[in-house]
Amino acid sequence: MKALNVTIAGGGSTYTPGILVGFIKKKLSFPVKKLVLYDNNLERVMKMGKFAQVLLRDYYPEVEVVYTNQPKEAFTGVDYVFCQIRTGGLKMREGDEKIPIKHGVIGQETCGPGGFSYGMRSINDMIRLVKEIRKYSKDAWILNYTNPAAIVAVALQRAFPDDQKILNICDQPISLLMAYARLLGNINYKDMKPHYFGLNHFGWFTKIIDKRNNEDITQKIKDTIQLKGFKPADAEKRDPSWLVTYSTVKDMLDLDDTYLPNTYLQYYLFRDRSFSHLDPNYTRANEVMNGREKRVYEECNRVIKNNSAHDTPALKDLDKQDAHGDMIIEIAEAIYQNNNRYYVVIVANKDKIIENLDEDVMVEVLCKLGKNGPKPYRVGKIGTYHKGLIEQQAAYEKLTVDAYFEKSYKKALQALTLNRTVTDMELAKKILDELIIHNEGYWPILRR
Ligand code: NAD
Ligand code: G6P
Ligand code: MN
Repeated sequence: MKALNVTIAGGGSTYTPGILVGFIKKKLSFPVKKLVLYDNNLERVMKMGKFAQVLLRDYYPEVEVVYTNQPKEAFTGVDYVFCQIRTGGLKMREGDEKIPIKHGVIGQETCGPGGFSYGMRSINDMIRLVKEIRKYSKDAWILNYTNPAAIVAVALQRAFPDDQKILNICDQPISLLMAYARLLGNINYKDMKPHYFGLNHFGWFTKIIDKRNNEDITQKIKDTIQLKGFKPADAEKRDPSWLVTYSTVKDMLDLDDTYLPNTYLQYYLFRDRSFSHLDPNYTRANEVMNGREKRVYEECNRVIKNNSAHDTPALKDLDKQDAHGDMIIEIAEAIYQNNNRYYVVIVANKDKIIENLDEDVMVEVLCKLGKNGPKPYRVGKIGTYHKGLIEQQAAYEKLTVDAYFEKSYKKALQALTLNRTVTDMELAKKILDELIIHNEGYWPILRR
């Protein structure tokens, strides 16, 4: 087996330790020779890089670990690039979340005006990043987690229409399957074949099959959620806001049990209730800055100081499943091993995967993954309600990307007006005007 060169762009991300553990788990089927952590923040990537060097020296010594803020060093001769950048960092996320709340609108990282604000920043950096990667490695697979993945996917499809090796992914469908598995108690999520359709952070499981006996367990999952409520598979490790988010799935099902909804739908469908759960002075960004980010960097410092990773908490997860870290490596593994495993990923609706949607919509659907990338399962025609919701959201996504490329204030205003979390054009204008100030230096200057 050829050993691989992998680069993590956004190497200083709080999610990097989970991915490092994923590499250790998969060393036999996805052998890595060289791992580069690349980040535009040298201080962060130095800490994470030194942590990675100690961890892999102790648990995966075959890997050479390098860290850098130089694109040439990061992207020359690589086979896979994992992207997880956050333009502007968590400080900008805080503004994305707090500005809409001031106007009585959902303040969320990827949904509503927060997602719009973050999206316009991410498009810029992701296009630059892909160009840098392609300058040095024409054939590398680019697996992208960078959010809002929905918007990034539309923008990259537009900027690089012929590039067949960019794949945008999200860990939420797998996190939901893991939560169903914990709820049922007698099944591993990998025994489930999920049928899913929608847009990223805007979709539904229509059917879940237990592959062990071919049983349709969809109704059983719905009934158990309605009986026992719903929580994440790793509830004990989650901050309070995530527990509220998961519990709302039961309430969504109580009103409409057609399909099993993605947690993110609550910001659109249960807008008022979701808004009432938000604290205008302490949003998810504050929870992350005071929680995960602190914890991760304190741990990096500790491991570097002790020059030993043997007791690092990250390793407690070596024998556990981790939706985020495992997913990106298993997708890379599926491509590398050509093993045709199923994953729910984001692809263009070409050849009418969803028959009654436009072909340029970036949909999230079940795909088989092998050496040529994702092969989507056909969804067929979808019903009036779901089609209506998706078309409105897809139009919002498209107008957001139009606004970026055309530097158009009007398109930006139209995008926000179309978003279900906003809907009023005067309100959209007030929020947009504040977001323009918040994003100075990040967004293109919008022409009025
Ligand atoms: P983070 O801020 O801790 O990490 C992001 C890193 O990217 C930082 O170290 C930052 O310095 C670096 N960075 C920013 N701009 C860059 C650029 N232009 N080039 C290189 N590096 C750059 O954020 P996080 O919370 O760890 O999340 C990382 C990313 O992963 C975010 O985009 C987040 O939304 C995304 N994410 C996506 C999913 C998904 O389901 N798709 C799941 C989890 C996280
Ligand atoms: C889920 C979503 C990601 C999102 C993350 C936010 O995993 O699928 O797209 O980035 O949640 O988590 P956080 O802990 O940063 O709020
Ligand atoms: Mn996601």
